[in-house]
Amino acid sequence: MGALSFTWLGHSTFVFTSPGGKRILLEPWVASNPACPESQKKLGHLDLILITHGHSDHTGDAVSIARATGAHVIANYEVCLWLEAKGIQNTAPMGQGGTQTIGDLAITMVNAVHGSSVVEDGRVVALGQAAGYVIRFEDGVTIYFAGDTDIFGDMRLIAELYRPSIAFLPIGDRFTMGSAAAARAVELLAVRQVVPMHYGTFPFLTGTVAAFRTLVEPKGVQVLELQPGETAS
Ligand code: NI
Ligand code: MN
Repeated sequence: MGALSFTWLGHSTFVFTSPGGKRILLEPWVASNPACPESQKKLGHLDLILITHGHSDHTGDAVSIARATGAHVIANYEVCLWLEAKGIQNTAPMGQGGTQTIGDLAITMVNAVHGSSVVEDGRVVALGQAAGYVIRFEDGVTIYFAGDTDIFGDMRLIAELYRPSIAFLPIGDRFTMGSAAAARAVELLAVRQVVPMHYGTFPFLTGTVAAFRTLVEPKGVQVLELQPGETAS
Protein backbone atom coordinates (compact mmCIF):
# COMPACT_ATOMS: atom_id res chain seq x y z
CA MET A 1 0.00 0.00 0.00
CA GLY A 2 1.23 3.52 -0.79
CA ALA A 3 0.87 6.66 1.26
CA LEU A 4 -1.70 9.43 0.98
CA SER A 5 -0.67 12.23 -1.36
CA PHE A 6 -2.59 15.30 -2.44
CA THR A 7 -2.20 18.00 -5.05
CA TRP A 8 -3.63 21.47 -4.51
CA LEU A 9 -5.30 22.90 -7.62
CA GLY A 10 -5.86 26.27 -5.96
CA HIS A 11 -8.70 27.66 -3.82
CA SER A 12 -10.34 24.59 -2.19
CA THR A 13 -9.77 22.12 -5.01
CA PHE A 14 -7.53 19.10 -4.37
CA VAL A 15 -6.81 15.77 -5.99
CA PHE A 16 -6.05 13.09 -3.41
CA THR A 17 -4.37 9.79 -4.24
CA SER A 18 -5.32 7.38 -1.49
CA PRO A 19 -2.92 4.78 -0.08
CA GLY A 20 -4.88 2.17 -2.04
CA GLY A 21 -4.54 4.15 -5.28
CA LYS A 22 -7.97 5.77 -5.54
CA ARG A 23 -8.03 9.24 -7.12
CA ILE A 24 -10.43 11.63 -5.42
CA LEU A 25 -11.27 15.17 -6.52
CA LEU A 26 -12.45 17.47 -3.74
CA GLU A 27 -14.44 20.51 -4.93
CA PRO A 28 -14.65 20.31 -8.74
CA TRP A 29 -13.69 23.84 -9.70
CA VAL A 30 -10.91 23.56 -12.23
CA ALA A 31 -11.44 25.05 -15.72
CA SER A 32 -12.53 28.48 -14.50
CA ASN A 33 -10.52 28.39 -11.25
CA PRO A 34 -8.13 31.33 -11.65
CA ALA A 35 -5.71 29.76 -9.17
CA CYS A 36 -5.42 26.44 -11.03
CA PRO A 37 -2.34 26.17 -13.24
CA GLU A 38 -3.20 25.48 -16.90
CA SER A 39 -0.89 22.46 -16.83
CA GLN A 40 -3.06 20.86 -14.11
CA LYS A 41 -6.45 21.28 -15.76
CA LYS A 42 -6.47 17.85 -17.41
CA LEU A 43 -7.38 15.56 -14.53
CA GLY A 44 -7.31 12.10 -16.10
CA HIS A 45 -8.89 9.19 -14.28
CA LEU A 46 -10.94 9.90 -11.15
CA ASP A 47 -12.72 7.43 -8.89
CA LEU A 48 -14.60 9.86 -6.69
CA ILE A 49 -15.67 13.50 -6.57
CA LEU A 50 -16.58 15.09 -3.22
CA ILE A 51 -18.55 18.33 -3.02
CA THR A 52 -19.16 20.23 0.23
CA HIS A 53 -21.79 22.72 -0.96
CA GLY A 54 -23.39 24.31 -3.99
CA HIS A 55 -21.40 27.52 -4.43
CA SER A 56 -19.84 27.82 -7.87
CA ASP A 57 -16.28 28.03 -6.54
CA HIS A 58 -16.84 24.43 -5.37
CA THR A 59 -19.13 23.03 -8.09
CA GLY A 60 -18.27 25.06 -11.20
CA ASP A 61 -17.03 22.05 -13.17
CA ALA A 62 -18.90 19.30 -11.34
CA VAL A 63 -21.13 18.39 -14.26
CA SER A 64 -18.45 18.36 -16.96
CA ILE A 65 -15.91 16.47 -14.84
CA ALA A 66 -18.45 13.92 -13.56
CA ARG A 67 -19.61 13.34 -17.13
CA ALA A 68 -16.10 13.04 -18.55
CA THR A 69 -14.73 10.74 -15.84
CA GLY A 70 -17.77 8.72 -14.76
CA ALA A 71 -16.55 9.15 -11.18
CA HIS A 72 -18.98 8.67 -8.31
CA VAL A 73 -20.09 12.01 -6.90
CA ILE A 74 -20.61 12.38 -3.16
CA ALA A 75 -22.55 15.43 -1.99
CA ASN A 76 -25.63 16.33 -0.01
CA TYR A 77 -29.01 15.17 -1.30
CA GLU A 78 -29.93 18.48 -2.95
CA VAL A 79 -26.60 18.87 -4.77
CA CYS A 80 -27.01 15.29 -6.02
CA LEU A 81 -30.55 15.99 -7.27
CA TRP A 82 -29.23 19.08 -9.08
CA LEU A 83 -26.51 16.97 -10.74
CA GLU A 84 -28.99 14.21 -11.62
CA ALA A 85 -31.22 16.79 -13.32
CA LYS A 86 -28.25 17.50 -15.57
CA GLY A 87 -27.81 13.85 -16.47
CA ILE A 88 -25.21 12.78 -13.90
CA GLN A 89 -26.19 9.30 -12.73
CA ASN A 90 -23.31 8.15 -10.53
CA THR A 91 -24.33 10.11 -7.45
CA ALA A 92 -24.01 8.92 -3.85
CA PRO A 93 -25.96 11.40 -1.70
CA MET A 94 -25.51 11.61 2.06
CA GLY A 95 -26.24 13.82 5.06
CA GLN A 96 -24.38 15.14 8.08
CA GLY A 97 -23.51 12.39 10.53
CA GLY A 98 -23.66 9.70 7.87
CA THR A 99 -20.76 7.54 6.75
CA GLN A 100 -20.55 5.66 3.49
CA THR A 101 -17.90 3.14 2.61
CA ILE A 102 -16.64 3.16 -0.94
CA GLY A 103 -14.05 0.49 -1.57
CA ASP A 104 -12.02 0.65 1.62
CA LEU A 105 -12.60 4.38 2.16
CA ALA A 106 -14.94 5.57 4.91
CA ILE A 107 -16.40 8.97 4.10
CA THR A 108 -18.35 10.83 6.78
CA MET A 109 -20.25 14.04 6.18
CA VAL A 110 -19.99 16.51 9.06
CA ASN A 111 -21.33 19.97 9.78
CA ALA A 112 -20.18 23.28 8.36
CA VAL A 113 -21.46 26.77 9.08
CA HIS A 114 -22.03 28.22 5.61
CA GLY A 115 -24.61 28.55 2.82
CA SER A 116 -25.25 26.26 -0.16
CA SER A 117 -26.79 27.57 -3.36
CA VAL A 118 -26.09 28.07 -7.02
CA VAL A 119 -27.20 30.79 -9.42
CA GLU A 120 -28.80 29.53 -12.62
CA ASP A 121 -30.46 31.69 -15.26
CA GLY A 122 -30.21 34.60 -12.84
CA ARG A 123 -32.09 32.76 -10.09
CA VAL A 124 -30.76 31.50 -6.79
CA VAL A 125 -31.31 27.75 -6.38
CA ALA A 126 -31.01 26.45 -2.80
CA LEU A 127 -28.90 23.28 -2.54
CA GLY A 128 -29.32 22.01 1.01
CA GLN A 129 -26.77 22.68 3.72
CA ALA A 130 -23.02 23.11 3.50
CA ALA A 131 -20.93 20.30 4.92
CA GLY A 132 -17.42 19.10 5.60
CA TYR A 133 -15.98 15.59 5.25
CA VAL A 134 -13.95 13.22 7.35
CA ILE A 135 -12.19 10.65 5.18
CA ARG A 136 -10.62 7.52 6.64
CA PHE A 137 -8.24 6.04 4.12
CA GLU A 138 -7.39 2.38 3.55
CA ASP A 139 -4.42 2.53 5.95
CA GLY A 140 -6.44 4.16 8.73
CA VAL A 141 -5.08 7.68 8.19
CA THR A 142 -7.95 10.10 8.71
CA ILE A 143 -8.29 13.66 7.46
CA TYR A 144 -10.86 16.41 8.04
CA PHE A 145 -11.77 18.57 5.07
CA ALA A 146 -13.75 21.53 6.41
CA GLY A 147 -15.13 22.97 3.18
CA ASP A 148 -16.26 26.56 3.69
CA THR A 149 -17.07 27.28 7.31
CA ASP A 150 -16.63 29.45 10.34
CA ILE A 151 -15.14 27.87 13.43
CA PHE A 152 -17.73 26.00 15.52
CA GLY A 153 -17.43 24.41 18.94
CA ASP A 154 -18.41 20.96 17.72
CA MET A 155 -15.07 20.70 15.94
CA ARG A 156 -14.15 19.25 19.34
CA LEU A 157 -16.55 16.40 18.66
CA ILE A 158 -15.05 15.82 15.22
CA ALA A 159 -11.70 15.40 16.98
CA GLU A 160 -13.18 13.09 19.60
CA LEU A 161 -15.20 10.91 17.24
CA TYR A 162 -12.88 10.60 14.24
CA ARG A 163 -9.36 11.58 15.43
CA PRO A 164 -8.17 13.18 12.19
CA SER A 165 -4.44 13.77 11.88
CA ILE A 166 -4.59 16.41 9.13
CA ALA A 167 -7.13 19.24 8.79
CA PHE A 168 -7.82 21.15 5.59
CA LEU A 169 -9.11 24.52 6.74
CA PRO A 170 -10.24 27.71 5.01
CA ILE A 171 -8.30 30.75 6.23
CA GLY A 172 -9.28 33.41 3.67
CA ASP A 173 -11.80 35.38 5.75
CA ARG A 174 -14.85 37.24 4.34
CA PHE A 175 -16.86 34.09 3.39
CA THR A 176 -15.22 31.73 5.89
CA MET A 177 -13.17 31.99 9.05
CA GLY A 178 -9.94 33.92 8.76
CA SER A 179 -6.46 33.10 10.03
CA ALA A 180 -7.11 33.80 13.72
CA ALA A 181 -10.29 31.72 14.01
CA ALA A 182 -8.73 28.96 11.91
CA ALA A 183 -5.81 28.87 14.34
CA ARG A 184 -8.28 28.39 17.19
CA ALA A 185 -10.03 25.67 15.16
CA VAL A 186 -6.73 23.79 14.98
CA GLU A 187 -6.77 23.57 18.78
CA LEU A 188 -10.34 22.26 18.85
CA LEU A 189 -9.48 19.67 16.21
CA ALA A 190 -6.29 18.59 18.04
CA VAL A 191 -4.47 18.04 14.74
CA ARG A 192 -0.69 18.37 14.30
CA GLN A 193 -0.80 19.11 10.57
CA VAL A 194 -2.92 21.68 8.74
CA VAL A 195 -3.38 22.48 5.08
CA PRO A 196 -4.68 26.05 4.60
CA MET A 197 -7.06 26.68 1.69
CA HIS A 198 -9.65 29.14 0.35
CA TYR A 199 -7.31 32.15 0.51
CA GLY A 200 -5.64 34.42 -2.02
CA THR A 201 -7.82 33.46 -4.98
CA PHE A 202 -9.56 36.83 -4.97
CA PRO A 203 -8.44 40.13 -3.41
CA PHE A 204 -11.26 40.01 -0.84
CA LEU A 205 -9.92 36.73 0.60
CA THR A 206 -7.47 38.54 2.83
CA GLY A 207 -6.40 35.82 5.27
CA THR A 208 -2.75 34.82 4.89
CA VAL A 209 -0.69 31.74 5.63
CA ALA A 210 1.93 34.00 7.22
CA ALA A 211 -0.54 35.21 9.85
CA PHE A 212 -1.86 31.69 10.37
CA ARG A 213 1.68 30.31 10.82
CA THR A 214 2.57 32.81 13.52
CA LEU A 215 -0.43 31.60 15.53
CA VAL A 216 -0.11 27.82 15.17
CA GLU A 217 3.60 27.06 14.71
CA PRO A 218 4.55 28.08 18.27
CA LYS A 219 2.17 25.32 19.40
CA GLY A 220 4.05 22.70 17.42
CA VAL A 221 1.54 22.49 14.56
CA GLN A 222 2.97 21.94 11.08
CA VAL A 223 1.51 24.08 8.30
CA LEU A 224 1.59 22.28 4.96
CA GLU A 225 1.65 25.28 2.63
CA LEU A 226 1.34 24.29 -1.02
CA GLN A 227 1.59 26.33 -4.18
CA PRO A 228 -1.19 25.66 -6.70
CA GLY A 229 -0.17 22.60 -8.67
CA GLU A 230 2.11 21.33 -5.91
CA THR A 231 1.81 17.87 -4.36
CA ALA A 232 2.37 16.88 -0.74
CA SER A 233 2.90 13.32 0.36
NI1 NI B 1 -19.00 28.77 -0.29
MN1 MN C 1 -16.11 29.02 -1.30
